[in-house]
Amino acid sequence: MDHLVSPSLLAADFGNLEKDVRMVNKSYADWLHLDIMDGVFVPNLSFGFPVIEAVKRVAEKPLDVHLMIVDPDRYLQRFSDAGAFMLTVQYEACIHLQRTITEIHNLGMKAGVALNPHTPVLLVKNILSIVDMVLIMTVNPGFGGQSFIMESYSKITELRNMIDTGGYNVLIEVDGGIDTKNAAKLISAGVNVLVAGNSVFSSENPEETIRKLKMLS
Ligand code: DX5
Ligand code: ZN
Repeated sequence: MDHLVSPSLLAADFGNLEKDVRMVNKSYADWLHLDIMDGVFVPNLSFGFPVIEAVKRVAEKPLDVHLMIVDPDRYLQRFSDAGAFMLTVQYEACIHLQRTITEIHNLGMKAGVALNPHTPVLLVKNILSIVDMVLIMTVNPGFGGQSFIMESYSKITELRNMIDTGGYNVLIEVDGGIDTKNAAKLISAGVNVLVAGNSVFSSENPEETIRKLKMLS
């Protein structure tokens, strides 16, 4: 039960976000995951600052903001102002990743780096000493409700070994196709943070599904 649960708002009811944010507030969730898509890095658009700020006014859980956008450096200050706790950028979108992570920290946020399914974990080896979290995408980013990519397990194991061998203080988060069936195996493989969108918000009792994801060991 040491792991964290971060429900992804992308699968919530956008006609009544406040209701779903309040449900997350009183649930066992640790964080609230917000997916920002620009229609360039991924073939989809989600939402921007006015929505994040509105969510922040209601949310009692830290905001775990996942940027699927090109050139994220342009907006780091805005995400800080909007209330992000953890700001995760995609490895593939950052040319000067070390600088980006440093800037996120300077703005008072935790810094995460997300890897697309085809991106090897070895590529983050030299930033493990400065980053707070590595997000292993377990689907191709852009949409909720996709199937979990099985090859992700070997990436998680490899990253877990790299982190433990080096003695780094880095969380492993997974995102995409996570549900109450595959979550236990992911935790055993060394995952620290579970993101879950559809498996939570499309379930009959979302608060109970969050509890189930949290109580797994
Ligand atoms: C996908 C997003 C995810 C998405 C996950 O690009 O990064 O956070 O909301 O949705 P599910 O859990 O439905 O796969
Ligand atoms: Zn996400």
